[in-house]
Amino acid sequence: MSTPELVPGLAGVPAAESSVSFIDGTQGILAYRGHRIEVLAEKSTFEETTWLLWNGVLPTRAQLDAFKQELQPYYALAPELVAALKALPRKGHPMEALQAMVAMLGMVSPACDLKDEASRHDASLRVLAAVPVLVACFERLRRGEELVEPDPSLSIAANFLWCMNGVKPSAIEERILDCALVLHAEHTMNASTFACRVVASTETGAYTAVSGAVGTLYGPLHGGANERVLKQLEEIGGPENAKAWFDAKVAAKAKVMGLGHRVYKTKDPRAHSLQNLARELFESHGSTPLYDTALEIERLAADTFGSRGIWPNVDFFSGIVYQKLGIPTDVFTPIFAIARTAGWLAHWREQMGDNKLFRPGQIYTGVHDAEWKDLDDRG
Ligand code: SDX
Repeated sequence: MSTPELVPGLAGVPAAESSVSFIDGTQGILAYRGHRIEVLAEKSTFEETTWLLWNGVLPTRAQLDAFKQELQPYYALAPELVAALKALPRKGHPMEALQAMVAMLGMVSPACDLKDEASRHDASLRVLAAVPVLVACFERLRRGEELVEPDPSLSIAANFLWCMNGVKPSAIEERILDCALVLHAEHTMNASTFACRVVASTETGAYTAVSGAVGTLYGPLHGGANERVLKQLEEIGGPENAKAWFDAKVAAKAKVMGLGHRVYKTKDPRAHSLQNLARELFESHGSTPLYDTALEIERLAADTFGSRGIWPNVDFFSGIVYQKLGIPTDVFTPIFAIARTAGWLAHWREQMGDNKLFRPGQIYTGVHDAEWKDLDDRG
């Protein structure tokens, strides 16, 4: 048998068969269970989209109402989790806190029978409901504020803002965040979803699989980019400074955060939708010079990188939306994790339905038959 060629980063190498979502990177198409992301962003909610991702079809009204009722009791955190949150180092990054707390959630949850659909569903509900509350609670504790009890009557998006800010969000704030969660919920075999499936394939369960995915998403080349994009825009200071800043990055062959994608070779469809959300927020919350700076960077990048298929991705405009919602910059990636928990759990369920342990090969480049020398005989 011929030795397979190494493919760096497994670029384009199928790791699984999946029906959860589809991307056409040339056309800029993203669809969840066959539904185009633009339609879901306009017409769906995060809970409805999650049900779609997990079950393959849109829910009936009765199914959606039942799903929301299933989730609500799991918003409340066990006392041990609250105690652990209070003990976490405040200077740590919220993604580090979230990764630790999701693994700990497994320690206070019933053991999951991986062969039983009802048990897998219960574990999925517990993770989806707790993650937003964990992110919000860690943020409040960092601010030195008392925790507020989750409100089970609220949507996941509204309850997150309530638990973080201690005030109920306006209708437009809830809808904008809910739409952002829909846009970030799922994206085929991205690095964190692949990590989730690798961990899941060892049959450890949802909590450690999602915890591993959180750690993967944290990286600046993946979900951590949204936080760095906003810092980039603040560093540039205004559209009039964009060209000098951009030219310096190009000259240094440095990566511009929020641009480029392993699959998309055109503008990410989610970037278009997030731009629309930003503009909608500006009508009620006022604009920001960061947006004008982003547009100038986008124009410069199109001229310089467009022919190489490097265009704005999902992270390029999302931070502007989150900042307008009053969300701290280092909470942007945890919000990405809140949304992607829906997709990770869809892939976990799919993996458990037809599991095969991930154990790829390698191309060995080391030595053979090395000679042993005792410690004192080594030069
Ligand atoms: C997400 O996979 C997913 O689906 C992820 C995601 C999801 O929803 O799960 O879509 C979310 O992670 C979006 C991506 C967020 N990351 C960033 O914005 C970080 C900046 N982007 C780059 O690091 C990069 O574009 C990647 C990592 C996203 C993709 O890079 P690849 O496919 O590994 O390609 P590469 O890094 O090898 O780049 C190929 C060439 C290089 O130039 P050469 O060495 O060939 O001369 O393109 C250049 C790169 O230098 N390049 C960039 C660039 N991205 C690629 N140059 C400047 N700025 C950039 N942003």
